[in-house]
This record gives sequence, structure tokens and C-alpha cells, in this order.
Amino acid sequence: MSGLEVNKILASIIVAILVVTVIGHLGDIIVDVEHHEMEETAYKIDVPESSEAAPGVVPKEEFTEPISLLLTSASLEKGEKLFKKCSSCHNYNKGSANKVGPNLWNLVKRPKASVDGFAYSKALSEYGGEWGYEEIAEFLYKPKKYIKGTKMNFAGLKKVQDRANLVLFLRDQSENPVPLP
Ligand code: HEC
Repeated sequence: MSGLEVNKILASIIVAILVVTVIGHLGDIIVDVEHHEMEETAYKIDVPESSEAAPGVVPKEEFTEPISLLLTSASLEKGEKLFKKCSSCHNYNKGSANKVGPNLWNLVKRPKASVDGFAYSKALSEYGGEWGYEEIAEFLYKPKKYIKGTKMNFAGLKKVQDRANLVLFLRDQSENPVPLP
């Protein structure tokens, strides 16, 4: 083997090593870039951590179960018993006096804050609308949450069945009870 040939062989080995090294390094760079990108994507997907950010999901505590479907099977007697929770502050007979709270005769579909001679809070008198079935039920669930600033000091009725029974009873306190929804 001549010295020239040895040199050629050595040269090609060096070139081969270089090529392998460069390709390997390039590979590293590419893999690294991909890795980096993947990391970013993973981070972006992780961002909506709180449930508030998820669209279309109603946070649990803000959802009040509706009573409409329960009204047809609700109990008037149970509603009358439940009214004991209200009777320290409310009458419900036609023409009876306001107490701490306004008379609740003919309440369903009555405009809010409309009893003559009762001094409503600013919050309730400015709230607007009428007392539909669901509005009453939602108010009774947590009065201070439904109307911020109301002066009705009542913690609320947690059970949807209680609200349905009581609203059915209130509906009955009228000469012409409003048809059930
Ligand atoms: C501690 C006294 C108190 C109790 C107990 C109470 N309320 Fe009231 N209620 C009030 C007061 C005071 C208002 C007027 C609120 C305002 O002006 O912000 C009111 C207002 C209302 C209104 C609005 C009436 C209107 O004319 O717009 C409804 C409906 C009502 N109460 C239903 C009930 C029912 C049903 C219960 C029993 C589950 C109840 N309340 C228990 C004091 C009370």
C-alpha cells in the first residue's frame, strides 16, 4: 500500500466521521426543535386550568335546579307546612296586612315589588319583571344571591322539592291560579 493510498483511506474515514457527526448533530437539532415545539403545545393545552375558562360548563354552585317539572306532582299540604318558615314575615290572604315582608296574595305573575304601601328595598324595587314560577323558586333558593341587596333575611330553601311544594302553595293563594308551566 502506498502512502498516497493510506492517505486517501484516512481522508475518507475522516470525511465519513465528519458526515456522521454532522448528520447526527443535525438530527439532534431537528429532534430538539420538535421536542421544543411539543413542549409548547403541551403547555398551551394545559392552560385552561380553572373550570371557569371551559366554555359551556356551568359552574355547579351557579345552577339552580328548575321546579317546573316537579310542580305537577308537588304537594299543597307540604307547601302549606313549609310556609311556616315565611309566616313570621308574610301574610298570604287577600287584603291582609304587610308584615316585615309584603303580603304574598296572588304572587305568581305579579310584578315584582308591586304591593301598595310596602317599603321595598332599592334592590328589589329596581329589579324589574314579574314573579314567574322559576323566578320565585330561584329567589327562595338563596334570596340574597338572586337579588343582591334585598332586605329579606331568609337563608333559603336548599331542596328543590321544598321549593316546588311551597311555590305550588303560593300559586293557590289567588282567585285565579295561574296555569302550571
Ligand atoms: C325575616 C323575614 C322574612 C322571612 C322569614 C321571609 N321573608 Fe320574604 N320578604 C321579606 C322582606 C323584608 C321582603 C322585601 C324584600 C325587599 O324589599 O328587598 C320580602 C320579599 C319577598 C318576596 C317578594 C315580594 C314582592 O312583592 O316582590 C317574596 C316572593 C317573598 N318574600 C317570599 C318569601 C317566602 C316564600 C318566604 C318563606 C320561604 C319568605 N319570603 C320568608 C321578609 C321575609
